[in-house]
Amino acid sequence: MKISVIGCGYLGAVHASAMAELGHEVVGIDTDAPKVAMLASGRAPFFEPGLPETLRSAIDSGRLRFSTDIADAAGSRVHFIAVGTPQQPGSNAADLRYVEAAVQSLLPQLAAGDLVVGKSTVPVGTAARLAEPIEASGATLAWNPEFLREGFAVQDTVRPDRLVYGVPSGEAGERAVNLLNEVYASAVVARTPLVVTDYATAELVKVAANAFLATKISFINAMAEIAEVTGADVTQLADAIGFDSRIGRKFLNAGVGFGGGCLPKDIRAFTARAEELGRGDSVTFLKEVDSINLRRRQRVVDLAVTALGDRLHGAKVAVLGLSFKPHSDDVRDSPALDVAVRLHGLGADVVAIDPEAVENARARHPQLGYSTDLEQTLRDADVVVLVTEWPQFREIDPVWAATLARGRTIIDGRNTLDATGWRDAGWTYLGLGRP
Ligand code: UGA
Repeated sequence: MKISVIGCGYLGAVHASAMAELGHEVVGIDTDAPKVAMLASGRAPFFEPGLPETLRSAIDSGRLRFSTDIADAAGSRVHFIAVGTPQQPGSNAADLRYVEAAVQSLLPQLAAGDLVVGKSTVPVGTAARLAEPIEASGATLAWNPEFLREGFAVQDTVRPDRLVYGVPSGEAGERAVNLLNEVYASAVVARTPLVVTDYATAELVKVAANAFLATKISFINAMAEIAEVTGADVTQLADAIGFDSRIGRKFLNAGVGFGGGCLPKDIRAFTARAEELGRGDSVTFLKEVDSINLRRRQRVVDLAVTALGDRLHGAKVAVLGLSFKPHSDDVRDSPALDVAVRLHGLGADVVAIDPEAVENARARHPQLGYSTDLEQTLRDADVVVLVTEWPQFREIDPVWAATLARGRTIIDGRNTLDATGWRDAGWTYLGLGRP
């Protein structure tokens, strides 16, 4: 199948490569010329495990190319819209300008019978609005939300855990389902659960899924807050409630909270859209979810301040982690970077390290101290703060770290270290929601 993918960011670059890997003939289109040049030469513009290999093999097969020219989308039967929908500056709502621009530029390229497939996360009601001009071009619109996780993006795209098709009613809808089943033939053969539905449900599935995940994380972080005033241990609490299969242990890791380019902005955009629809009260709890999440960042900062006896000026704070989660270089709304920035703002001499995200963090916050060398980061540190659970940080030998640092306090913002091992090596170990 000839496919175009409009937008080659974290979502689109992976989607284009994966579709080519599955045997389709794909053109990835983006307005960012340096990014397109990089992708065309087989290099991934961001860190994503497995993407460089998939990209290169797809390009070598001759089935994948990249372009800045939307005219190259002409001739494809299926056109994926995979552009970003960031939070609007000064508002909770999603910024739809890239989606609108992608559809507008695509319209003149469409032929009768083409299928436009929205993958971007959008406020409910967007697809119905975009369908009108697309249908006027003789094409059909489907909404097919994406559930990939950064760090596992390639495998999530090639082997998704479910497929959701939001399609119009009638014959156009049936044709859309058939085309999508051809695109995702390998997943269909593997009997991947499929939900065929209307636009509104498909759009809502995506935001509801992310809202649920965010709520689950903030729920356990709220329990951490209660644990902190009662002496209870939130990690044992999570294990114990997680054994109930109705609850499940996944996404119950208390810590510095969620971040990234999706969960935070999606719950805010959902709230904004619900308010527009006159149903703000249905999702008021998401504001609490957001507040709990942001409080956890401050909690880590407060622990560091207390450990330093309020003497931040001149104190060296080693911050382990900058990306919003391990196996990613993404620092969008990263709790780790936020903690580093807050500590620096209080006068601390912050040195932050991350295996992949230093350059992205430096571009946003050049005022912080950065390092790519663990020994240098830990040397003479008055307090050590772990905020992203990269394996290299989890594996630090506390005895070795004690020979480098000046202070002996480790703040484990992800509850991921072996508390006993660190205490035995002479450290004061402080987790979140743990005695
Ligand atoms: C999330 C969803 O998990 C994907 O299903 C969705 O497709 C994606 O957003 C999207 O909308 O595109 P992602 O942002 O890659 O994926 O990251 P997650 O693995 O969900 O982690 C989000 C944040 O929650 C991270 O900062 C992570 O550290 C934090 N988290 C996760 C916790 O604090 N505790 C947990 O138990 C789990």
